Amino acid sequence: MARIGVTGMGTMGAALALNIADNAFDIAVHNRSPEKTRAVLAGAGELTERLVPAESLEEFVGSLTKPRAVLIMVNANAVDAVIEDLMPLLEPGDLIVDAGNANFNDTRRRANSVEDAGLLFLGVGVSGGEEGARFGPSIMVGGTPEAYAPIKDIIEAIAAKFEGDPCADFLGTDGAGHFVKTVHNGIEYADMQLIAEAYGLLRADGRDMGEMAALFGQWNEGSLQSYLIEITSEILKVRDRDTGKPIVDVILDQAGQKGTGRWTVIEALKMGQSATAIESAVAARSWSALSETREAAEAAFPVTGGVASVSDSDMEAALLATRILTYGQGMALLAAASDEFDWSLDLARVAEIWRAGCIIRSSLLDDISSAVRDELPHGQLMLAPAFVARLNETIPALRRVVTAAMVNGQSVPAMAASLSFFDTLRRARGTTDLIQAQRDFFGRHGFKRVDRDGDGFHGPWAD
Ligand code: 6PG
Repeated sequence: MARIGVTGMGTMGAALALNIADNAFDIAVHNRSPEKTRAVLAGAGELTERLVPAESLEEFVGSLTKPRAVLIMVNANAVDAVIEDLMPLLEPGDLIVDAGNANFNDTRRRANSVEDAGLLFLGVGVSGGEEGARFGPSIMVGGTPEAYAPIKDIIEAIAAKFEGDPCADFLGTDGAGHFVKTVHNGIEYADMQLIAEAYGLLRADGRDMGEMAALFGQWNEGSLQSYLIEITSEILKVRDRDTGKPIVDVILDQAGQKGTGRWTVIEALKMGQSATAIESAVAARSWSALSETREAAEAAFPVTGGVASVSDSDMEAALLATRILTYGQGMALLAAASDEFDWSLDLARVAEIWRAGCIIRSSLLDDISSAVRDELPHGQLMLAPAFVARLNETIPALRRVVTAAMVNGQSVPAMAASLSFFDTLRRARGTTDLIQAQRDFFGRHGFKRVDRDGDGFHGPWAD
């Protein structure tokens, strides 16, 4: 018998189960096709004794002590079916945890229907890829404190630790955990895109893989220290076994996406927010799918420019500036969602539990959590004193990098979007006065005046 079980022995489910076993908890394991469960057991070594395998869902539920805790780790589109199969086998007080990458709207719906049946429900975001799941992920929990209480010790034990602090916490009700994970992934998309843009510029500048790997490695020792910069350096060193070419040169440049980046953008827009670096990253992945179109367009509009020559220090500073702006957009989005859904999200805590284990872990997050804890002026990370100073230092470099890219016809959608976001927000008076005039001109939509209270003023268009 075990206190907790995992159903879904895919890469992430198996890794989480082994992590739980590694932390000295017995764990029931199940998969729809039992071969996968058997394979996990076969590879579990001395952890096998902690695993309680089950071939059917009935046997799986029967191997759990009451109140039961079932962790579902399956593809997002299979979650409803698994919950439907599980519910008749469970009793009031039992807990269902969806630990996959669910859309938070689905989590809110599922939380309602599961709780209506007297069961407890958690929607939990788990980040860190396979290695994280196996040895310490970052874990974002949403649901109710009552549902979290029975498994809190297990979650904290298996989570990554930042200076001893578990990178796991209860963040808010219903979909809060999955929403925070979705925004995490949106930031992940943007950070990956920004790094890819830097790589593109370095390649255009004629750098070879070794130089680039060394440069990313060097950056990883400084203010850009992060998992994504670190693995970029590693990736650029790797060669294809068959051809001996750098591995990135044999990889088709079409990026996949399972939806979390897109969900971030959709939810941002629904709330009247705009996370432009994330939007650009999602767009870049979508455009990447258009290989034939890109070939035709390259033939129609040949790249004639020279090289996008930028200094290493400018590139490093540009990446830091855009990373700050991206995290800032993510934080603003979380704040908006917290208001909208009454989650009372502790944004500083969110930054804290992203400091280790997750894909976007970076040294910057420690400073972000301190800045957020002190309260962000106007809700904007860019206005926190520590970040005002850093942006003043790095934005000139970002301008030089974006300018060099533009002049040379290099594609830098996320860098350019970040810079435009910054330049728009730092203007006390922008250009939407004209937009308002146009709206009023063609549709009498009305506007506010700078010199009088109230709204609904109209221009003397008929004159
Ligand atoms: C994580 C990752 C992970 C995500 C992959 C792939 O935090 O461990 O975000 O959850 O599934 O990064 O996502 P895409 O296929 O959408 O790129």
